[in-house]
Amino acid sequence: MLKSFNKSYGDARIKVGDEPHVDLFATDLRARDGYKEAVEPAIALDRTFELEEEIFSDVESATVAEGHSTIRRRAHPALRAIAGFAFEEYGLPTANGVEIGSGPLGYMTNALLPKTVDRKSWREVEINPLSVAKNQRLHPDSRIIQGSYQRLAEVLGENSVNLVAGLSSLDSTTNIDNVAEQIRLSLVEGGYLLHVQDIQPSPSTTLHELRTMGEGLPHVQFRNRYSSFGETFFVGNNHSEPISTTELFRRRMGRIFCPKNGFEQVLNHWITAAVPSGRPDSYVFHGGKDLVLKLPKGETQMDFASAVVTIARKI
Ligand SMILES: C[S@@+](CC[C@H](N)C(=O)[O-])C[C@H]1O[C@@H](n2cnc3c(N)ncnc32)[C@H](O)[C@@H]1O
Repeated sequence: MLKSFNKSYGDARIKVGDEPHVDLFATDLRARDGYKEAVEPAIALDRTFELEEEIFSDVESATVAEGHSTIRRRAHPALRAIAGFAFEEYGLPTANGVEIGSGPLGYMTNALLPKTVDRKSWREVEINPLSVAKNQRLHPDSRIIQGSYQRLAEVLGENSVNLVAGLSSLDSTTNIDNVAEQIRLSLVEGGYLLHVQDIQPSPSTTLHELRTMGEGLPHVQFRNRYSSFGETFFVGNNHSEPISTTELFRRRMGRIFCPKNGFEQVLNHWITAAVPSGRPDSYVFHGGKDLVLKLPKGETQMDFASAVVTIARKI
């Protein structure tokens, strides 16, 4: 079962690959009879970054982000292993880093970063004032700046940080090119971006990717029946196989954090971590969707989490 998990981090087994270990979205979609009939035109989102900032400064987005923390509870040890593995395996800087889009809990900073990270020199940047206030209340020692990653170089200063990290932070922007440039400007020479996309991305970045792939609108759009916030599958007109929005997001990240934009791409893959569950069942977490199952008798019950991990170095 774990043969393809040929790396490890602590007691976790790790697999780095082109797809998640279990693609719950594709499995679900394939199992659905007549899914091709569920055709809806998708809404193409195009926004200026100023409008985007306005949208994310409101109360609602803070609430949405907070909801994600509950679905991560059981996935927590495996997600932690993914982040820890990324730092160790790719030699990421452990001092003078910043988490962007840290939300109301600063979940990446407070729950996922390995112990090697120097928390005294770590900062967080979040646009939503309510999220900033809540996070600061929960973590009085954290250095949280209210500001936009669309203006990151202004907020932090140019050539000022060794690492820009984000957890499901860049999926909602329609202006990822601008964010990439801001990240590049903020990083010191040789500094790194680490982005972990563990929940289903919002459609904005992924719609852009479909366009780049030459897929005309309208295309098939599915609502995920398990989702409380209307996750969406996309199948472009020319595709017989479903492509999940998280996979589209991964492809988008690959196009953005590349040499043409001043980055060497170190990794843009799915990482799956498996940790012993300590219970009589196993838990699979992928894209904010989850499943409890029982592995065959005689096998250790493991918890799995898959995420798209992008690591790029400023050149
Ligand atoms: C999907 S949530 C993820 C939150 C948190 N990282 C987590 O995983 O729990 C995206 C976060 O990015 C923030 N955000 C969106 N646009 C931003 C911007 N331009 N600058 C800073 N933060 C932004 C949102 O307010 C939200 O907290």
